[in-house]
Amino acid sequence: MKLIWNEEFLTGIESIDEQHKRIFDLIERLENEIDKQCSTTEIPAEIIMELLDYTLKHFIFEESLLEQNDYPEFTDHKIAHDMLTMKVMQYKEDLDADKQIDCSELINFLYEWLTTHIKIVDMKYVSFIKEKVS
Ligand SMILES: [Fe+2]
Ligand SMILES: [Fe+2]
Repeated sequence: MKLIWNEEFLTGIESIDEQHKRIFDLIERLENEIDKQCSTTEIPAEIIMELLDYTLKHFIFEESLLEQNDYPEFTDHKIAHDMLTMKVMQYKEDLDADKQIDCSELINFLYEWLTTHIKIVDMKYVSFIKEKVS
């Protein structure tokens, strides 16, 4: 299962697409490292930390965009982010405590976040936001 960036991830909202692409690149980097290292040594905490921090920043940016534009499904979107944030924070805590992370579980979580959240949940706000900001 290899992640490939394609137009299905594009919202057409430049700032959001840049951020999603950055998250995608970080996941790709992490995935390459995990391929090499997971079974032998520890997974690269630095990339994971960067990925988790950036993901949280992206959520804050996206939420303020939706809130400022009175997106009617803001609360549902925020709840979806909050659930992802809880998982992200758990990974961060485990890393801070030098706990071993389950690589396949982490990769599954990231796939889930990219495919389900960006392609389905984020796509829901696209036409509404585009109309508002145009
Ligand atoms: Fe997003
Ligand atoms: Fe989102």
